[in-house]
Parts: sequence; C-alpha cells; structure tokens
Amino acid sequence: MPTVVTLSGSPSSRSRSQGLLNHAATRLAAQGIEIQPFTLADFPAEALVFAHFDHPDIQRLHQAVAQADGLVVATPVYKAAYSGALKLLLDLLPERALSHHAVLPLATGGSNAHMLAVDYALQPVLAALKARHIVGGVYGTDQELSWGEDGTLQLASGIAERLEDVLARFIAHLPNPGRAQLDPHALHDRVRIAAISV
Ligand SMILES: Cc1cc2nc3c(=O)[nH]c(=O)nc-3n(C[C@H](O)[C@H](O)[C@H](O)COP(=O)(O)O)c2cc1C
Repeated sequence: MPTVVTLSGSPSSRSRSQGLLNHAATRLAAQGIEIQPFTLADFPAEALVFAHFDHPDIQRLHQAVAQADGLVVATPVYKAAYSGALKLLLDLLPERALSHHAVLPLATGGSNAHMLAVDYALQPVLAALKARHIVGGVYGTDQELSWGEDGTLQLASGIAERLEDVLARFIAHLPNPGRAQLDPHALHDRVRIAAISV
C-alpha cells in the first residue's frame, strides 16, 4: 500500500489549512493509502529554530518521509508566502528528500489576492528538495472554509470539488499495487544505471 506523509505548517491551534489537510487525509485513507501525519506541534520550537537535524523528532520525520511515496503539505499564506514555521521544518529535511515523492501542496489565505503564493513561493522550495512530481495544489480562502458547530471545517462546494479533482491526480502519481508499475525507487535506480552506461 502507498504511504503518504502529511505535514501541517500552521502555528494556529485551530487551523483552516490543517482542516483542509485533514479532509485530504481522510479521502486518501478511504482509498487504502496509509497516512503518517505530522504537525508543527510534533517538533520542539528549539529544534526548529536552531536547526537540530539530529533531534529524535526530526529524525522520525526524516525516516517517515524517506519511507513514504508522497507528501501532502499544507500552509497558511503569511505575508504573501508560506508560513515561516513551515520553512524552518522544510529546511531540516535532507537534500533530495522528495526525489521519490509525489507532492501535493495545499494553502489557505484571507483572500484570493495571494492565491499564487503556492506557485511562486512554496513550489520552488519543493522543487529544491527534488520533488519527483508536484501536483497543482489547492488554494482556499477563509470564506470558502468555515467552522461547523461540531468544530470541524466545512468546505464550500467549489473547493470540495477542486480538492477531489486534485486528489485523484495525486493518487495517480502514487505506486498502485493493482497496476503493473515500476516502483519510483527502482525507476530512479534504472535511470541512473542507464545514464552511466551510455
Ligand atoms: C501573520 C499573518 C499573515 C497573513 N498574511 C496573509 C497574506 O499575506 N495574504 C492572505 O491572503 N492572507 C494572509 N493571512 C490570513 C491567513 O492566511 C488565513 O487566515 C489562513 O486561512 C490561516 O490559516 P490557518 O488557519 O491554517 O493558520 C495572514 C494571517 C496571519 C496570522
């Protein structure tokens, strides 16, 4: 079964971007995909700010990412970019950490004015981590994401449809045990060997 790490980059305790991420994780789990969830609260602030690469919690993230087939990362838009706290965490991932991964970015913002923040700010960071494939993400405004009386995040119909569409594309880039498909790790090795033998 494919495994996906989810990473929530909001410092807020009640977070719309994390709520959106939770919706995505629930939909992926319903397709039999194993979810390994991480939030900023899983890491001591000191380890993030002072870049403690060897901290056991950071090592646990490294291991989970290394063993996963995909990453779904969610962030609030802060000052026309992603959250600084998320950057602290992404900075602690090893080089090429995402080279075998399909990656799906999710973001929420106060208005549509900064809907390109994911494309212009977050995607270059994911590309620097050598993400194998970045699926065009989902951006939601606070108006599209409201809190229900039970404390769960309610998605307006437009964003719910966009999320379904994007998840289908993301799943298509994960290894499928029912489909004859070369594992991305094996594919990478074959390409490397082929390049050397030319
Ligand atoms: C410090 C800060 C900066 C923000 N900057 C922006 C911004 O530049 N553009 C925008 O659309 N929304 C901005 N917002 C609004 C948040 O992106 C929005 O409310 C988002 O849904 C919060 O996500 P969260 O609940 O997951 O933290 C900002 C919010 C805060 C607290």
